Amino acid sequence: MARMTLAEKIGQLNLMPAGEGLLTGTRQPTSLAARLENGQVGAIFGTKSVATARAMQERALAGSRLGIPLFFAEDVIHGHRTVFPLNIGLACSWDMDLIAATSAFAAAEAAAEGLHQVYAPMIDISRDPRWGRVAEGPGEDPSLAGRIAAAAVRGFQGKDPGSKGRVAACLKHFVAYGAPESGRDYDNVSLAWEDLLTTYLPPFAAGVAAGAASVMVAFNAVNKLPMHANGPLIEGWLRAKTGFDGLVVSDYTGVAELTPHGMGPAPVAVARALHAGVDMDMVGEDYLRELPGLAKAGVTAPDAGFALSAAQVTALIDRACRRVLRFKQQLGLLEDPFRGMARSARPPARAKGRALARKAAARAAVLLKNDGLLPLSPKARVTLIGPFAADRANMLGTWAVSGRAEDVTPLHEAVAALTGRAPTVAWGANIVDEPWLVQRLNVHGVTVRQDPRPEAEILAEALAAAATADVIIATVGEAKEHAGESSSRLSPDLPAPQQRLIAALAQTGKPLVVVVFAGRPLALGAVAEQADALLYAWHGGVAGPEGVADLLFGAASPSGRLAVTLPAHPGEVPLTYAAEPTGRPYPGHFAKFRTGWLDMPDDAPGFPFGFGLNYGQVSYGPPRLSRAKARADQAVNLQIMVTNTSARAVTETVQLYASDPVARITRPGRWLIDFQQVTLGPGECRTLRFRVTPDQFSYPLAPSLEDAEWVRDPGLIQLHIGANSRDTQTMDLTWLD
Ligand code: NOJ
Repeated sequence: MARMTLAEKIGQLNLMPAGEGLLTGTRQPTSLAARLENGQVGAIFGTKSVATARAMQERALAGSRLGIPLFFAEDVIHGHRTVFPLNIGLACSWDMDLIAATSAFAAAEAAAEGLHQVYAPMIDISRDPRWGRVAEGPGEDPSLAGRIAAAAVRGFQGKDPGSKGRVAACLKHFVAYGAPESGRDYDNVSLAWEDLLTTYLPPFAAGVAAGAASVMVAFNAVNKLPMHANGPLIEGWLRAKTGFDGLVVSDYTGVAELTPHGMGPAPVAVARALHAGVDMDMVGEDYLRELPGLAKAGVTAPDAGFALSAAQVTALIDRACRRVLRFKQQLGLLEDPFRGMARSARPPARAKGRALARKAAARAAVLLKNDGLLPLSPKARVTLIGPFAADRANMLGTWAVSGRAEDVTPLHEAVAALTGRAPTVAWGANIVDEPWLVQRLNVHGVTVRQDPRPEAEILAEALAAAATADVIIATVGEAKEHAGESSSRLSPDLPAPQQRLIAALAQTGKPLVVVVFAGRPLALGAVAEQADALLYAWHGGVAGPEGVADLLFGAASPSGRLAVTLPAHPGEVPLTYAAEPTGRPYPGHFAKFRTGWLDMPDDAPGFPFGFGLNYGQVSYGPPRLSRAKARADQAVNLQIMVTNTSARAVTETVQLYASDPVARITRPGRWLIDFQQVTLGPGECRTLRFRVTPDQFSYPLAPSLEDAEWVRDPGLIQLHIGANSRDTQTMDLTWLD
């Protein structure tokens, strides 16, 4: 650093796109080559091959007086070339080893392409199915998300992000990006500091504790202060409270976007972002443009209530540059700028990745209903109906920038391979009706095709195909770009033509299995009643349909549990199992002058957080506590026996929730404190033990972020244990002090 000029330091803070990948903003970068030749780039994201990365690195080294290398980053969100299920699906596995394994495989593929950092894990809690990026995230619960964050970091980084086949993780999007007003992507959020501290920040704390090397800041404003200018949260909470000492990057043009956020013109926006702790500026190049002037003259913006002297700006440039260089050092790039870029670098065997992806797809799918129909006999004559029966591209899901549709085995082929018989296939319905919507859904390439025939004709063909079958398997849901960035939906339900299809198929009276491929939790409405069996498969990646076929025909057993509540109706969102009680609690049906919806039928089918069926049955014995009263220095053991009462092996996720009936402020109705996953052979029983500790019941009182105080009270706590957030047994525990 001592040998670096101011311009060289500023160059390190410039994070540019390679120009080969997806452009997700409106601004186009200035010529990358010119920047590299002038030592004005610190890192590049979006290269698509080791050859390009090498060439860029050579250019950067030639253009840097001190020979400072670049690092390379990419959006590796749910797999790289081998695309795994959407993260929301992986979250439904509740299987941390699986999540670590998929992250590790993705890291190995990415590292073999010369990448050093991945923009993952995405750990935004979301309780709003309208928000399209639910697809990329861990669901609605902070403690499940915290475990996922830690598992993913472990998988990406191993013991050292600079070691072979590993990459640096980047926790995103900091913070509360999953709670935008109206579910609209990029929108702002105002919430109680307590919500931030108990719901949205804990996954980041867990990711940092697991050693995450970097963090990306969110596009939103939180409690009136845009995150790219949010010093109290970045420098104040993230660095000072969690001890994070890695690199903070902006999101795509996030620094420039401070101006429309109302934070001032470019020089003020840049000074605010740098001061807030945003070390690197992605795409916008505002740091590059504005910092030289700011370092000379400082900034005074009385209208924004903000001022920095030239010396302060210079010190902040040093701070950010030091963090960038330290990150490069951690990645081993200062010793070997071509680390991981050897021409001989080989990705891990794709066949291994496929096997993992197939297992993951089966683990991600959640069986919501089964009236004894599943698993199907391989001898059953099945007809596959619906727009996803032969689909490849949509199965990859959103944010699969390095995935290829031709790698996907579509469901009809997967079924044929498994049963030895090609099923009859019919289109059944278009994904959506509206031509303008089709156009929007095809923004990243055509994945939605319209059958131009009249709907009655398409349906008649499907019904004729159904007539020959013993069982109908209907494949419905969302296209890949229905979810993801900038894909908020007004009404998170099954598109209308597909609802009509299911209603018509149900009318046939034939056994009906409905498989939903989607990127968000949809309100399924009547479909949940019309189906005899219902499998929620998300977008399962390259082997998604094979995982589904394995489940349908019993080659795999369903074990997925919802990581996010499925709404009963699209209008009741946002929603969570962990809602705080009102003074007029919802009694489970409409009651005048109680919390609820006038126009929601009492029997509207929703599916709670943690819910999912097995093919076998598990019975829960009575839970026991080692003591019913405990002091604050004591831990309490809870034990429960779970028995597989069926003749099939099952994987059960035993979930422990708590509630605090009397506190200083209102607390969630219940919240997840722990879970364990066990596989039980036919007839097998197992005693599970949970350790309950007083710290699980502390909560913040937070008139402001700075004044937050964590407290824990003596008195009654209720513990709820069971197979999901609704169906539990309750025990009382009293803390004496
Ligand atoms: C914008 C997205 O919000 C972020 O998740 C992604 O990593 C960047 N673009 C880079 O592509």
